[in-house]
Amino acid sequence: MKLITIIGARPQFIKAAAVSKAIQAHNTCRTNFIQEIIVHTGQHYDENMSKVFFTELEIPHPDYNLGIAAATHGAMTGQMLEQLEIVLLKEKPDIVLIYGDTNSTLAGALAAIKLHIPVAHVEAGLRSFNMLMPEEINRILADRISHLLFCPTETAVSNLAKESITNGVYNVGDVMYDITLCYRDKAYQAHPLQTWKLEEKAYALCTIHRAENTNDSIRLKNILTALQQIAQEMAVILPLHPRTRKLLTVRGEMHLLEGLQVIDPVSYLEMLRLEMSAKVILTDSGGVQKEAFFHKVPCITLRDETEWVETLSSGWNQLCGANQTTIVETWHHLDTQNRDYQTQPYGDGKAAEKIINLLKDI
Ligand code: UD1
Ligand code: UDP
Repeated sequence: MKLITIIGARPQFIKAAAVSKAIQAHNTCRTNFIQEIIVHTGQHYDENMSKVFFTELEIPHPDYNLGIAAATHGAMTGQMLEQLEIVLLKEKPDIVLIYGDTNSTLAGALAAIKLHIPVAHVEAGLRSFNMLMPEEINRILADRISHLLFCPTETAVSNLAKESITNGVYNVGDVMYDITLCYRDKAYQAHPLQTWKLEEKAYALCTIHRAENTNDSIRLKNILTALQQIAQEMAVILPLHPRTRKLLTVRGEMHLLEGLQVIDPVSYLEMLRLEMSAKVILTDSGGVQKEAFFHKVPCITLRDETEWVETLSSGWNQLCGANQTTIVETWHHLDTQNRDYQTQPYGDGKAAEKIINLLKDI
């Protein structure tokens, strides 16, 4: 079987690493060889947003890099669609594998379906029910045109059923849980906290990059001011996404970072290490919310809704939007929250293996 993986953004490299490893494992011990061709759209391109993940997670070097980035949604998705079509016509894969909800996801799904190539969507069925999010549009459209929908949770399966999508839907578990299990011990050993002059369970880890928080200067200011307040009592480390850094620079608002320990984006293993030893994580990232749950670290989500509703119902995550007072008060009352240690809604760490078995059978 010839499979084309289409990826372009940081979280997709991490998810694809889990599946690539499962493909390699499958190829060593079975017949029915799966040839994986990796197409990097170029959406994320800085070394610490792209190459570091391929090296550290041993993802095969991309066969193609389309170099399409830093454009408006229409321009980016349109250019990707055009270039992906050329690759798909040349390679003639049996199936195209897409991940998550970025512009690279949507472009990959569209390019394939227009050529009648089956599409498999990893992380299908997630919904925020907020159509102002670019990711929600990408997810809904990608799911609608996918033949195989690999859901990470039962909630995702039921979201799809409500849209009358039931064929080809499988709850395989979350590939991000697989990859966390695979690397967490290595991350712990390889990256001592002294690297960042931090102490175990004595700091807050934060990430901010969502369009809804960064494009809106008031929301971003509220969040950063809340972090500055927290930083008066506890170290706050912020690996800063290039989008957020650029917007703060253009607006002349870098002073909003004063008092915070601002660092460049870190590698996946470094991030796991920072997450597992944090007292609390404050984030608007989808992946980081879930990783907080995997490590059993309380999370404050800097959004008005989340797709990862299981993290809320189990008490590990609380939605605070971009309200300065709510964020600081929730942080103050972290220890009063009841949390469920038993719930495990994200599978058994074998999601990627299940995906490969399903792809192979079909
Ligand atoms: C994208 C995804 C978002 C995902 C996030 C993961 C879409 C619509 N959004 O958001 O769903 O959560 O990736 O991080 O696909 N930039 C750099 N260097 C890089 C990458 C980006 O400088 O390596 C800058 C560019 O100026 C770019 C801006 O960041 O214009 C935003 O990048 P883009 O890929 O458009 O969106 P993200 O905010 O990264
Ligand atoms: N991540 C990382 N380095 C960082 C910040 C995040 O390796 O400096 C990882 C994080 O551990 C998670 C993934 O990137 O696995 C989440 O990606 P991101 O927050 O960019 O996107 P989202 O999940 O919101 O789409």
